[in-house]
Amino acid sequence: MATESYKLWGGMFSEEPCSALRRLNDSLPVDCRLYREDLRGSRAWAAELHASGHLTAVDHRDIQTGLDKVEAELEAELSQHGRLLDSAEDIHSAVEGRLRAHAGAAALRLHTARSRNDQSATDTRLWMLGALEAVQRELKDMITVMLKRAELEIDIIAPGYTHLQRAQPIRWSHFLLSHTWALRDDVARLKEQTGRASRSPLGSGALAGCALGIDRSRLAQRLGFRDVTPNSMYAVSCRDHVVEFLNTASLCGVHLSRLAEDLIIYSTQEFGFVKFTDEFSTGSSLMPQKRNPDGLELVRGAAGLLMGDAFAFSCVLKGLPSTYNKDLQSDKELLFRSYDKLMQCIKVASGCIDTMSVDSAKALSCLEPSMLATDLAHWLVRRGVPFRAAHHTVGAVLRRAQELGVDLQAMPHAEYVAICPEFGSEEELRSVFSWEASVEQYTTAGGTARAAVQDQIDQLKAWLAE
Ligand code: ARG
Repeated sequence: MATESYKLWGGMFSEEPCSALRRLNDSLPVDCRLYREDLRGSRAWAAELHASGHLTAVDHRDIQTGLDKVEAELEAELSQHGRLLDSAEDIHSAVEGRLRAHAGAAALRLHTARSRNDQSATDTRLWMLGALEAVQRELKDMITVMLKRAELEIDIIAPGYTHLQRAQPIRWSHFLLSHTWALRDDVARLKEQTGRASRSPLGSGALAGCALGIDRSRLAQRLGFRDVTPNSMYAVSCRDHVVEFLNTASLCGVHLSRLAEDLIIYSTQEFGFVKFTDEFSTGSSLMPQKRNPDGLELVRGAAGLLMGDAFAFSCVLKGLPSTYNKDLQSDKELLFRSYDKLMQCIKVASGCIDTMSVDSAKALSCLEPSMLATDLAHWLVRRGVPFRAAHHTVGAVLRRAQELGVDLQAMPHAEYVAICPEFGSEEELRSVFSWEASVEQYTTAGGTARAAVQDQIDQLKAWLAE
């Protein structure tokens, strides 16, 4: 049951804030999502007040049992109504207000030497530590899906594109891995940020620090933080961890959008390399034949939303005066929104990839002999022709084939040697026209030959297993 209005401030006010201000100011609909973190922070704060001699054993016990009751109450209300019914302005006020009903006078001592400024910063950091782990887990699951496919489909050869024009044959797995590596780096970024996010601001007060002797390190440890923030003004002011998360989320969104775009193109009738299952496709209300990749289109579009949120929050921070200002309250709205969007996108992209079918024959049929023009140039290079000359020679070969109205493979051998005798015997030259032989030239690390692709898979598997 929601308590009636319990305010953390207002002693010197004779009137309530107007409803327009309340609507703009109240953050409970957003920050109720931090209720677990708020309770954790409050339990740890009470324990530290007690341990450092500022709270009696009885008051401490009453607060802890009161917080248990508040937790049960909040959980029941959230599951029943999907929101908290309090008229409190934020989650910190709601928890304290409810505690008053369950812990009596002891509740009035919980906020001793604490401010909502360090409380809000602490709750958000605690939440973020969970979010950083959850996104990493989700990305690793997606990477696992991509590795499974890359391993299974290593024999499939497909066209590789630059400028979206047919360029060179590649192993399909090499394409999948090209996106996988980008996601691996996103995980690395999130992991690296965790150290900076994992600093406890609690005990910073409103801005000046804690006037009562407490042990901030012990408190931080109790909350699972790796360290404490080193300056109380910085602690209540800093939202850099939120900026870092939003920026990484938007970069990850960009990665997913590029993957989505490739797959959308490959799923068109014109390409037809992949087909998505019903589970990951949608239909048209008018055209019965349509199978639309809406999921991946939403993933593609989400990158723009994530970038917008990241930019929006940096704009909020820019030029803010020191320490806490209410502008900072928007951190959670953007953080939660971006987190939810990113997690949905990873799940959908991963599901699409896990369940799609790949038409290897269609991919192969989109290869054409001119995609071996580079191979012909390398063929000449291996026979001593300087690359620039070889490039030119193959250009002449392509022009001649065009004049004759044939492709490179069908052009008579005599035409080749007439342009350049280094092309060699007919039998030798014919060996160039193999997709398999073409991709197998790229054995250097990071290339598209089987061994180089398998090596990438092995590296990523070893990294996942770490
Ligand atoms: N709801 C606020 C926030 O999330 C809590 C901090 C309020 N502090 C204050 N001085 N009004 O930022």
